[in-house]
Formats: sequence, C-alpha cells, structure tokens
Amino acid sequence: MSDMEKTRILILGGTSEARRLAAALATRKDLDILLSLAGRTEAPAQQPVPVRVGGFGGAEGLATFLMEGGYDLLIDATHPFAERISANAAAVAERTGIPALALVRPEWAPVTGDHWHIVADIPAAITALGPAPRRVFLTTGRQGAHHAEIAPQHFYLVRSVDPVDPPLALVDVDYVLDRGPFTLEGEIDLMQEHRIDAVITKNSGGAAAYAKIEAARLLGLKVVVIARAPAAAMTSVETVEAALEAIDHLVSLAMNRGV
Ligand SMILES: NC(=O)c1ccc[n+]([C@@H]2O[C@H](COP(=O)([O-])OP(=O)(O)OC[C@H]3O[C@@H](n4cnc5c(N)ncnc54)[C@H](OP(=O)(O)O)[C@@H]3O)[C@@H](O)[C@H]2O)c1
Repeated sequence: MSDMEKTRILILGGTSEARRLAAALATRKDLDILLSLAGRTEAPAQQPVPVRVGGFGGAEGLATFLMEGGYDLLIDATHPFAERISANAAAVAERTGIPALALVRPEWAPVTGDHWHIVADIPAAITALGPAPRRVFLTTGRQGAHHAEIAPQHFYLVRSVDPVDPPLALVDVDYVLDRGPFTLEGEIDLMQEHRIDAVITKNSGGAAAYAKIEAARLLGLKVVVIARAPAAAMTSVETVEAALEAIDHLVSLAMNRGV
C-alpha cells in the first residue's frame, strides 16, 4: 500500500489514552498516524507512533496544518481540562469538514463516604479551604499552582510532573515530583506522611489518578473538586475501545470518499 492510499490521522495527545490509542493503531498498514504534544513536560513519555511537539498557532494554524498535511481524520484525545486546544479542534472540524472525534474519559462522581466540595476553578478551590490553616495536597499540576499564594496560612504539598518554576512564594510548602498512575497504598502513605487534611483535584476522570479520591475517602478527608467546563462540541466517545470502533467507521467512510 502506498503512502498516498493511507488514511492520515492526527491525534492530539498528552494523555495515557492518546498513547494507548496510538499504540493500538500503530501497526495498521492502512493508517498514517501522527501524535501531537503541546510540549509542556520536559521528558514526555515514550510514544508508539511519530510525534510532533508544540502549538499550531491557534485554530487557524491547526486548520492549515491539517489541510496542508492532507489529514483525513482528527482525534482530540487531550486531557479534559485542556480546554483551548479542544475548542480549537472543534472549531477547525466544523470549518474544514474534516471528520473528527473526541476521546473524553468520564468524570468521577462522588460515592458514599466522599466529602466533596465542588468548585469552578483553582482560585475557588483555594478559597474553599476556609480561613483556618489546613494541610493541603494540591494535585492540579504546576500550571495554576501559584494560586495557592492567595491563602498562605495553609501548608501545601504540591504534586506535579515537572518542578513548579518559579517556586511558590510560600513558607509552608513542599513539592513532590511524580507522574501517574498512582496506587492507593502510595497515596495513603503520602497523605499520612504529610498529615494532609484536604485534597484539591481537578475532576480529571480515569483510573490513573483515582487513587487519591479513594485514599481521601478512606482517611475521611475533604476533597475540593474542580469541575469540568462544558465539553467542546464534537462527536465523542469515552474509551479507547470505543474510539477504535468509531475510527474504523470513519476510516471506511474516508476510503469510500477517496474511491
Ligand atoms: N490541563 C491539564 O490538566 C492537563 C493534564 C494532563 C495532560 N495535559 C495535556 O497537556 C497539554 C497541554 O494542556 P493545556 O491544559 O495547557 O492545554 P490548553 O490550555 O487547551 O492548550 C493551550 C495551547 O497549547 C497548545 N496545545 C495544547 N495541547 C496540544 C497538543 N496536544 N498538541 C499541540 N498543541 C497543543 C495549543 O496551542 P496553539 O493554540 O498554538 O495550537 C493550545 O491552544 C495537552 O495536550 C493535554 O492533553 C493537560
């Protein structure tokens, strides 16, 4: 099969789901896959397909990239909180008519025993901790961690993949550099070691980061949960398996169009 006959797919990634999807498609001779990363992490995970790194230059740049590259299909498998790139992807799919699909993991939902306080964003999460000093596990990543500075009375344990740079202008702060998946045992140990009494998390969904929710439940801790913004308007599926099925369908449509 020549390269001309292959279906070209651009996957917007930066998640474990994008990597798993790419791995499942990597061996298919009828597909030409490119995975796109924003370039936020210093040492990104190994990927099973060719990768490009860096922003496209807004929706306009993404549209040009897709058209000039002759892409047949766009898959948005970015993190549910990567709102800008998803909005751009939806706008570009609409404008160019290139078939598109979003892979969006389901949200976590509170269960019996959870003490959730749901807020809209990181500043609201910090405010929700209240005036009395608390010991806080801040798991929202390095982007936005500086919002903790509005409430310096608390101790913060900040977890991120790369260092928070510049470090927070706080006296009572500690950092842990780590990348999921996390285990329940590990999360309980970490929370107990730092005498954590409140956890701040995005409602990221998925299994890799769920252990902190379980650990907080078992330890009886308050969890401040940052809700997702409404998803960008694009046909979506929740699992890698469902994405593979949908891609099969879209690829056969693209092949028929090309006949
Ligand atoms: N936000 C989170 O909590 C989170 C957590 C884990 C992983 N991630 C991953 O980290 C990346 C950045 O997240 P973010 O929240 O900063 O995104 P964002 O706010 O939606 O995107 C900001 C800009 O970064 C560029 N960009 C984002 N994702 C890209 C991709 N996959 N390929 C090429 N360019 C991309 C785009 O630049 P241009 O407009 O110039 O194209 C976009 O406008 C995403 O790929 C996401 O999957 C995010």
